[in-house]
Amino acid sequence: MERVKQIEILKELMSQVDEKRNVDAGRMLENPVASYTCPDMAAREWETFFRDHPQIIGMTGDLPAPGSFMTVDDFGTPVLACRDAEGNFRAFLNACRHRGVKLVTEERGEKTRFSCPFHAWTYDNSGALLAIPQPGHFGAVDKPSLGLIELPAVESHGMLFVHPKRDGVIDVAAMLGGLGPEIANWKFERLHRTGETAITKRLNWKLANDTFGETYHFQKLHKNTLGQLFHGDNLAYETFGRNHRFVFASRFIDMLREAPEEEWALPMGATLLYFIFPNIQIIVGRGTTNLVKIYPHKDDPARSTSRICHYFTENAIAAEAEAKASGNALTLDEVYDFEARKEKTLTYAVINEVFDSTIEQEDYAMGERIQVAAESGELDTVVFGRNEPALHHYHNSYRAALGLEPLEEYRAGGCKPTPGLERP
Ligand code: FES
Ligand SMILES: [Fe+2]
Repeated sequence: MERVKQIEILKELMSQVDEKRNVDAGRMLENPVASYTCPDMAAREWETFFRDHPQIIGMTGDLPAPGSFMTVDDFGTPVLACRDAEGNFRAFLNACRHRGVKLVTEERGEKTRFSCPFHAWTYDNSGALLAIPQPGHFGAVDKPSLGLIELPAVESHGMLFVHPKRDGVIDVAAMLGGLGPEIANWKFERLHRTGETAITKRLNWKLANDTFGETYHFQKLHKNTLGQLFHGDNLAYETFGRNHRFVFASRFIDMLREAPEEEWALPMGATLLYFIFPNIQIIVGRGTTNLVKIYPHKDDPARSTSRICHYFTENAIAAEAEAKASGNALTLDEVYDFEARKEKTLTYAVINEVFDSTIEQEDYAMGERIQVAAESGELDTVVFGRNEPALHHYHNSYRAALGLEPLEEYRAGGCKPTPGLERP
């Protein structure tokens, strides 16, 4: 992101904080809760957004060197992703060409050859079939035509894109919807992977996405945790096609006011979140980036898995090492202590733990309660406020993609009253 834009956003957030003002979508919308429970809709989403849609499976740092590999089982096509001898990112169907057994079961590692656990057919990380045991017994096989099935794969802007279908098309520019040049400035390709957590919970995958769609809850739900570090109730928001940029002020923004403008950088006073349709949240902070990939479960609209992948910049890793050596590393107990945060250095073990536990124990706990209410059949709609534009845009985007009508505007008296219990 250009510096001019960073300064502009910081000033907008400062004025929102000063004036106790929040972003204003200008209207409220009603969202039918059936979108969190309907099996037919879930089946259409699975096909449209996961089985037949390019997927961001990680960052460049997930495959740090030639010989690195990772496997993915989140969207119906088992994927083996590799960095080959030339350093190119490649993706294959993770299935042996003999009888189709899953070739690689480890989640990630360093390996240039993969031997099938069933009968030991062996492939290299360019997908070539190298050898089969007892060829005289098995029969003549045409090795070049029995390499691993290759999937479309593109590495761009420090992110790894895969299409789940062999004949699928990955159009990165279209997928990023104009966010490309801005994202390029953050240099995601230089990030180092520092950990990953998977959270499977009883909430629809869109409820998991909704968690990242407003700052209205910061000073309520997160009052004793993130609320100590963020102002809440402020938001600089912009859409890019079906995606959006969502920036909210941390309390460090107050310290920036003292510093000359030439020294300002957006992550010094705010956290940025990029949503990339349909299921990716990328959260950029001071030296840290978190990639949250959110997946439905194929046969259950009430279940989702979020994979939270953590990355640090080179500088943040160096700062952490220095802080540990000098005894100035922030401890888990101090993480919500703003004064300690000002003085000490955050370590990735601490930030990863806090990030994961806040999402799981605070945000997704709310999502699970919404899911239960939605399934009762007695709650028809929920309301998205004027201060929740990301929810408006996200829900209307997937509705449009599925050929559904946009959400209706909420009007006074609009939510259906209980028959016979209408109050004056
Ligand atoms: S299924 Fe892989 S070697 Fe037989
Ligand atoms: Fe939250």
